[in-house]
Amino acid sequence: MLIDPYGRPVNDIRISITQKCNLNCFYCHREGENEKTAKEMTPDEIKKIVEIAAKLGIKRVKITGGEPLIRKDITEIIEKISSIKEIRDISLTTNGVLLAEYAEKLRKAGLKRVNVSLDTLDPQKYQKITGHNYSKQVIEGIIKAVETGLNPVKVNMVVLKGINDTEIWDMIDFSAKTNTILQLIEFIPLNTPNLSFQEHHMKLDSIEEELRKRAIKVITRKLHARKKYLLPNGAEVEIVKPFHNTVFCANCTRIRVTSDGKLKPCLMRNDNLVDILTPMRNNANNKKLEELFIKAVNLREPFYKK
Ligand code: 5AD
Repeated sequence: MLIDPYGRPVNDIRISITQKCNLNCFYCHREGENEKTAKEMTPDEIKKIVEIAAKLGIKRVKITGGEPLIRKDITEIIEKISSIKEIRDISLTTNGVLLAEYAEKLRKAGLKRVNVSLDTLDPQKYQKITGHNYSKQVIEGIIKAVETGLNPVKVNMVVLKGINDTEIWDMIDFSAKTNTILQLIEFIPLNTPNLSFQEHHMKLDSIEEELRKRAIKVITRKLHARKKYLLPNGAEVEIVKPFHNTVFCANCTRIRVTSDGKLKPCLMRNDNLVDILTPMRNNANNKKLEELFIKAVNLREPFYKK
């Protein structure tokens, strides 16, 4: 098992497979990648990185982007990862635009579950946030994903003051009706213009207080010690509060890989990346690649700490 110098086990890997996206959300942190690159890993290279991770005890994989469904070889990528026997859980974060088309193929390829970004049910607000008018398509994608048996399907809602903060309870109803889990995510200032952060950042404490009052059960997840509230109407609401949150960081069990193949110990930093793709392309052996992995784990440090 991998344990970092702060005693945190590393159980999951979050891999960005492209920087490209078919939306243009103003708040997007681009998974903390601040340099533009067109370099991408092949399905076999992604598989190799996951094999190394699996060998070191990692059992869960999350695929992200940009928008992962833009890659024409996305089903092949999922198939290759799911052929690794130690991997118990493969999930994917998508904006949902292409999800209706891909849900079934992805499930057949071995995908277990999916997170879909949908910040609003209002087409005009959706246009304002993402620059596009695809909200109907995304809702269809969510419904299709649930029908296909991806489980759970989570809906990611970044709470934005003055835009969608009045829609939280509508979104909770939507998630109950569609049998999805709603994740309310605090807007973090990473790769986003200062002004829009100041204008739209909102703390989630008051909504969380309200959820606590109404909940019939509260669960604390292992990852980031995230709280999940079960409501009387069957809705499940998870709160993701990363900003200035030492508890969140203390319970971070994830290592990342950038779209151009660098191990990334922390979403918030780019000064401690460990390139694993270049050595791999230069035929480094497994022992060397494992060493690079362990090096990246040893560079892990809570971004916010007491
Ligand atoms: N703050 C918080 N969450 C963000 N996401 C993207 N940018 C931000 C940000 N600045 C979330 C979206 C998306 C996931 C990949 O990351 O919810 O679903």
